Amino acid sequence: MSRDRWSSRSIFVLAAIGSAVGLGNAWRFPGICYSNGGGAFLIPYFVAMLTAGIPLLILELSIGKKFQGGSPTAFASLNKRFEVLGWWALATSFIIICYYAVVMSWVLDYIIYSVTLPWKGIEGGAAAFFTGKSILGISDSPGILGGFSIPALLGLIVAWIAIWWCIRNGVKSVGKVVKYTVSLPIILLIILAVRGITLPGGIDGIAYYLTPNWAALGDIKVWAAAYGQVFFSLSILFGIMVAYASYLPKNTDIPSNAMVIAFSDAAISFVAGFAVFGTLGYMQMVSGTPIADMRHTGVMLAFATYPEAIVNLPGPGIIHILFALIFFLMLFTLGIDSAFSIVEGIVTGLVDKFKWNKRKTTAWFCVIGFAGGLIFVTKAGLYWLDIMDHWVNDFNLIAIGVFECIMVGWIFGAKKLRDYFNKGTATIIGKWWDIMIRYITPLVLLFTSVRYLIENIANPYGGYDQKYLLIGGWGIVLLTLILGIVFTLFKGAPEQIAEESETPQVEAE
Ligand code: PHE
Repeated sequence: MSRDRWSSRSIFVLAAIGSAVGLGNAWRFPGICYSNGGGAFLIPYFVAMLTAGIPLLILELSIGKKFQGGSPTAFASLNKRFEVLGWWALATSFIIICYYAVVMSWVLDYIIYSVTLPWKGIEGGAAAFFTGKSILGISDSPGILGGFSIPALLGLIVAWIAIWWCIRNGVKSVGKVVKYTVSLPIILLIILAVRGITLPGGIDGIAYYLTPNWAALGDIKVWAAAYGQVFFSLSILFGIMVAYASYLPKNTDIPSNAMVIAFSDAAISFVAGFAVFGTLGYMQMVSGTPIADMRHTGVMLAFATYPEAIVNLPGPGIIHILFALIFFLMLFTLGIDSAFSIVEGIVTGLVDKFKWNKRKTTAWFCVIGFAGGLIFVTKAGLYWLDIMDHWVNDFNLIAIGVFECIMVGWIFGAKKLRDYFNKGTATIIGKWWDIMIRYITPLVLLFTSVRYLIENIANPYGGYDQKYLLIGGWGIVLLTLILGIVFTLFKGAPEQIAEESETPQVEAE
């Protein structure tokens, strides 16, 4: 059987944008920006994008297309010793999909709650509704699992069914879904941004968003967060972009597409900031609490602060329902294509090596992913999600980034890869790319990760008890490494994957 193909170049670009643009833009970016110096964060963010994000995106798309395989196969083709890196990336994305699907499950719950807005007027507002017994019933410590949160558990089942449905036929079904899951959330986001800016006090919120706190630039945490966010947001280093590009035919222009993907992603994050900060500005006016004191980041921003703002919007109740629906529908459509891209990335890696049946592998993987997410739908789920999100994203990814640079920049040869992707492109990439991949990207990454490591050892993250950080942080890092090694050691199906340059339609089975 020949390898699956995207039905067109634009469908591939849409799917890649769909993967990149996700909850990370609407939920993670404004939250991270907010806790890392507001407007000043845009500087490390763009530096990270130019010095690491775009060069690595080009790198991943190129090797995926060149070697026509998911990340383990593609990395192994560069150099046999690097297969393990590909599996490590996939093991990391496995952890991420386990909790990403849980966030999707809350979004599904909230789409239903939008109709009645049950947090309206209750004591403690939307935050109490979310963490209290109505939904998460959050326990006192990560050690107290305390059974499942039923709404989250039910949501998780539906989320996985939705993910499975979108990718059940591989890139063929992905191609059909992304037309809607990419355009709809962008339209909804623009509506929310316009509403945010035009709310009373909205402009003050925007001022907070865009006024740089220069002191933050001296803080290493801010830089580490910027790199982590760029990788998370562009979906690079997870093996996804390699997998998506492996379904491309020979004559696709990688550099130009990479630019389109990266800039669309950044633009959408930036717009999301307007929606979020405009609304926070309004809340500041309504509640009298200054934005700087609203200690709501990440998850809480989407599930507490924003829902609270919605029920406080000027206008009749129907407006509240409408905006709640717009907001959560946006989150769902934003997230679903990112979620299934992770699964597609992992399944591609497995199928390429073991030559398993792709449909069955996809279905089984969804069951395993669901099982892996169960820890996050317990009463201690939010704690574990927070700890793992912090470690895996900021640590594993930075490490994988360094190795990718060494592998291509020094062992395979940056110039060799650049000559390859510069063939037949409208955007010729200059020598700067070699310099980035060989020196700048790995050095910056190495520096940030070492400083970051020291920082984390000195100050336990989030004030959690060390033992939980050991399990959820280092334990998970170790687990992903072990999984990476185990999958490398398993013997794959015998057939060799040939390079695309030799055989354009490579046999996949
Ligand atoms: N890029 C996605 C987002 O911004 C998240 C994601 C991460 C998707 C990793 C795939 C892989 O939400």
